[in-house]
Amino acid sequence: MSRVVVVGSINVDLVVTADRLPRPGETVLGGRYARHFGGKGANQAVAAARAGASVVMVGAIGPDSFGDESLEALMSEGIDVSRVRRVDQPTGMAIIAVAGDGENQIVVAQGANASVSTDDAALTALSEGGVLLTCLEIPMATVVAAVATGTRLGMVSIVNPAPAQELPAALLALGPILTPNEAELLTATGADGIDEAIDALARAGAGAVVVTRGAAGALLADGSQRIEFPTRAAQVVDATGAGDTFSGVLAAWLADGQPLSAATAAATAAAGLSVSRPGARGGMPVRKAIEAALAD
Ligand code: RIB
Repeated sequence: MSRVVVVGSINVDLVVTADRLPRPGETVLGGRYARHFGGKGANQAVAAARAGASVVMVGAIGPDSFGDESLEALMSEGIDVSRVRRVDQPTGMAIIAVAGDGENQIVVAQGANASVSTDDAALTALSEGGVLLTCLEIPMATVVAAVATGTRLGMVSIVNPAPAQELPAALLALGPILTPNEAELLTATGADGIDEAIDALARAGAGAVVVTRGAAGALLADGSQRIEFPTRAAQVVDATGAGDTFSGVLAAWLADGQPLSAATAAATAAAGLSVSRPGARGGMPVRKAIEAALAD
């Protein structure tokens, strides 16, 4: 299996569960408080590692204990953290509310993640071939530089366009695979509908679009092909990190030389399993569990 290089964010998640999410301006009395390791990039790295990939994380942490603990958590998953820089900004932090039905609200203080630079992105060059995976919790210029480097090296590039942002033409023209949820897909293009958005991305030069649809599974749009991937209804405890699980497992399967349709099936199964436990990484499955779910 070749390598997965993740250029992305590293956060600590402060999580409170409540019966329901607050409306704007409202205070809701919550239940348990918990601290978890998070960050879309780091979560994706963990998902890919648990799925069996050899993973390198490129990112930044602060000079604080959250940074130390975040690094230790990544190392304990067997991830190469030698390209994670320590900068003079606090480690990224997410404040998360999780409702009784598993739905969440997230606010992120970007902190050190804002320092992940185009120089860091050049470290993508440590891998010839393999898969590059990046997300939008780091500066857009860094995302574009990472994908440009990955493309030049013949890597498969995946951009998880989360949190939602409009995607620049220069990024789409590089032809990355995109893994938005439905809201991110519409924001990425400014389109009003899913089909219109997928067509706009294709016209702009993007590669395949794999749309994550929560309990409805995933939709793979590759050229004129549209394939739906249903998911098993699991007991949703916490949906945080389901999209990260999806992107990380997709990357791991592609690094293993599998076709995009097989990778999408595995990613859909893994994301379905991931929501059954608290925390972004709590329910992220290992490869055996993904294979068992696929065989089921
Ligand atoms: O996708 C989930 C992640 O988003 C959380 O772990 C949080 O850190 C935010 O980055």
